[in-house]
Amino acid sequence: MHSQARTELPAASPGRALVERILATHHVEARRLLDQIAGTAAELSSALPPNDPANAIIHDCELLREEMLAHMAREEQVLFPLIIDLEHNGADEGDIGMLFSPIVCMKREHGFIDELLARLCAGANAAAVPGDAGDCVRRLVESLASFAAQTAEHVRIENDELFPLATALVPVAR
Ligand SMILES: [Fe+2]
Ligand SMILES: [Fe+2]
Repeated sequence: MHSQARTELPAASPGRALVERILATHHVEARRLLDQIAGTAAELSSALPPNDPANAIIHDCELLREEMLAHMAREEQVLFPLIIDLEHNGADEGDIGMLFSPIVCMKREHGFIDELLARLCAGANAAAVPGDAGDCVRRLVESLASFAAQTAEHVRIENDELFPLATALVPVAR
C-alpha cells in the first residue's frame, strides 16, 4: 500500500545498501571466477599424471571453492539479514553476542581464505609442467590473480566498511 505519509517512510539504510552492493557485485563476481577456476582445474586434472605434484593445485582449487561458497552462503543466510534487521528494527545491548559472533567468524574465514589463496597462487606460479597442462596452469594463474584482486576488495569492504557499520548499530553498555 502507498498510504504512508512521507515522514513515516523508513530512514536511509546504509547497511542494507552496502549489503545489496556486495551481493550484486562481489558475490556474483566471486561465483563467476570460482566457476572459471573450477573449469580450468578440471582440464588440468585430466592433463596431469595422477602422481604429479601439481595435483596439489587442483586440491587447493577445490578447497578454495568449498570454503568461499560456504562463507558467502553464511553471510547471505545469517549475517547480512541480521544486519538489515537490526538496522531496520533497532538493536539493544542484548544483540551484541548475536551480531558479534558471526562477525568474528566471518573475519576468521576471511583470514583463512586469504592464506589459502596466497598458497594457491604461489603454487600455481611455481608449477613447471609442459604441454596442455602448462597451458591450463597459465590460465589458472590468470584466473587466480583476478580472483585474488576481487577478493581483496570484497574482504576490505566487509571488514572495513560493513562490519564497523553493523557494530555501530548496537549501543555499547557503559
Ligand atoms: Fe562476502
Ligand atoms: Fe566475507
